[in-house]
Amino acid sequence: MDYKHSPVMLNESIEALDIKPDGVYLDLTLGRGGHSSEILKKLSTGKLICFDKDEQAIIESEPRLSKINNNYVLVHADYMNIKDVLEKHGIKSVDGILADIGVSSPQIDDFARGFSYSKDARLDMRMNQKQKLDAHFIVNNWSEVELVEIFRYYADVMLPQRVAKGIISNRPIDTTLQLVNIIRESLPAAIVRKKNPAKAVFQALRIAVNQELDALKKLVNYAPKILNKNGVLAIITFHSIEDRIVKRKFGTFIKDDTGKLPIIVSKEWTVKTKTPSRNEIENNNRSRTAKLRVLKRRKD
Ligand SMILES: C[S@@+](CC[C@H](N)C(=O)[O-])C[C@H]1O[C@@H](n2cnc3c(N)ncnc32)[C@H](O)[C@@H]1O
Repeated sequence: MDYKHSPVMLNESIEALDIKPDGVYLDLTLGRGGHSSEILKKLSTGKLICFDKDEQAIIESEPRLSKINNNYVLVHADYMNIKDVLEKHGIKSVDGILADIGVSSPQIDDFARGFSYSKDARLDMRMNQKQKLDAHFIVNNWSEVELVEIFRYYADVMLPQRVAKGIISNRPIDTTLQLVNIIRESLPAAIVRKKNPAKAVFQALRIAVNQELDALKKLVNYAPKILNKNGVLAIITFHSIEDRIVKRKFGTFIKDDTGKLPIIVSKEWTVKTKTPSRNEIENNNRSRTAKLRVLKRRKD
């Protein structure tokens, strides 16, 4: 079992959840169980429900969690379906919810899954391998308008029209490195020299394939409603497009959507924002863009 991928902002998120040994907790993004393991260690009679829409995450985390205790349930589901899953398990309210969103390091490192722009593989990028829509379909079928829209709104792709036109005129495109070359050839050399333009295009495609922003929007609308008194919703995001969704929604609870202050308190809610320590950023480059936003219910 490979635990080399460090969970991002682990101490900060566990501290924010302020775990009660008999509480009910949700880890909506199990991954390899880094955060879930720490939550589980703090539970005596409490319960942890772990979601992941990637079956591999469930399979690989089970042995790790089972060594700690049996107070967990693994659910192969999209957290968009949180309401149905909780109903099925007879859970009406919870004490804490963690979402460490986006793609996991093991997903990127398994080149065959097509998330990486540095190794050749079939265009795929599905977190849930049972899902139909994949990057291959989007790249080969979506219109110029649709491609430009995701390039612009999901990733700030530079000159999105040029990239979209380049893609459409080079169809069919089967693999990641074929796509990388087409992106490079579609853009002026000066842009390509500055930074790898494939990074943003791959991010946009990944978000579109996995409907990541739709899931996050549903989550921030629904999750606060099921928090018990002192219950916590903690969300770790990795880029400004995701963070903006969380910041705006949390801002509505405290009548302020600037999201700039580290702690804001109203009668009913507390909102906190944290970034990784310098030490964590030095040791884990993936954490450098992370932001943890925490919403806590203060009243019933
Ligand atoms: C950044 S990783 C989480 C890492 C985890 N916290 C750990 O310590 O190992 C994100 C995980 O969430 C999953 N995921 C992303 N969006 C999801 C969604 N809408 N529903 C369920 N799982 C999702 C991904 O498949 C991936 O395994």
